[in-house]
Amino acid sequence: MRRARDAQHHEDRQYHGFFAEYYDVLHGTYDADIPFYLDLARKHGGPILELGSGSGRLLVPLAEAGHEVTGLDASEDMLKRCANRLLTQPQWVRDRVRLEHGDMLAFSLPRRFSLVLAACNTILHCVSTDQLLALFERARAHMAPDGLFVVDFNIPNVKKMLESDGVEEVFRVTHPEAGTELVCTYRAEYDFIRQLETIYMHLQEFDRDRLLRAATNTTQRAFYFPREVALALRSSGFRTVRTWTGYRHGRLVESTRDIVYICQRSDEPRS
Ligand SMILES: C[S@@+](CC[C@H](N)C(=O)[O-])C[C@H]1O[C@@H](n2cnc3c(N)ncnc32)[C@H](O)[C@@H]1O
Repeated sequence: MRRARDAQHHEDRQYHGFFAEYYDVLHGTYDADIPFYLDLARKHGGPILELGSGSGRLLVPLAEAGHEVTGLDASEDMLKRCANRLLTQPQWVRDRVRLEHGDMLAFSLPRRFSLVLAACNTILHCVSTDQLLALFERARAHMAPDGLFVVDFNIPNVKKMLESDGVEEVFRVTHPEAGTELVCTYRAEYDFIRQLETIYMHLQEFDRDRLLRAATNTTQRAFYFPREVALALRSSGFRTVRTWTGYRHGRLVESTRDIVYICQRSDEPRS
């Protein structure tokens, strides 16, 4: 694992220690978006840069498909989990991956990429407009002349947010490796003026009645509506060449929960 040059490292507690492990328990096998990215990479080619690549849920399948992939993440624990996931892969897959520890808002790599990905809600970690614009500026600076930038996020479900605002929920899941019970006490609060979600989490691991571990954190994420992200992309020098919803090319309707913008630099000739 390398450190991105000139990066101001930014460690997100949401992806630290027990919480990094819990992320993988909940999301590590989520794969609804993977065929979409494999198809895009097959058509457009690499090298690929994934911003906020985490534990390699998407990065590893891209490398397995033969693409050269660089993963950048601010969490050392997520990068370690990614390195462990890669240990189960043959050498030729590992040879295609580079992992960089750094801040996606302030990194500088010596290479330019054919595909730059901000997948799976990574932009929601930009909790201010300045941060969103910094991310887009860094993405653009790392694109090859004919490169694509892909931004993929959930559209806020305002009705559900209003219903769940401040309500404590308890989730229980069996740890897939340890067989222990993970109990997550979770509360989200929404600030509709600043478009911020504050998440309070208390995580416990039990072996029957015996408490093995516990950790608490409070984190913030933004929520963004499609038009404001489209505007931020345009003002950052991107032209949206395709919009996908729900990983299928389709119309944006009220029930749509995912949106994917595929962009070129606006100074590139139209394809
Ligand atoms: C929602 S997870 C997505 C992980 C992975 N892309 C996936 O699809 O499973 C977001 C990731 O972004 C990383 N992250 C958050 N803020 C970051 C920043 N400023 N710079 C780099 N990575 C960041 C987190 O550490 C986390 O691994």
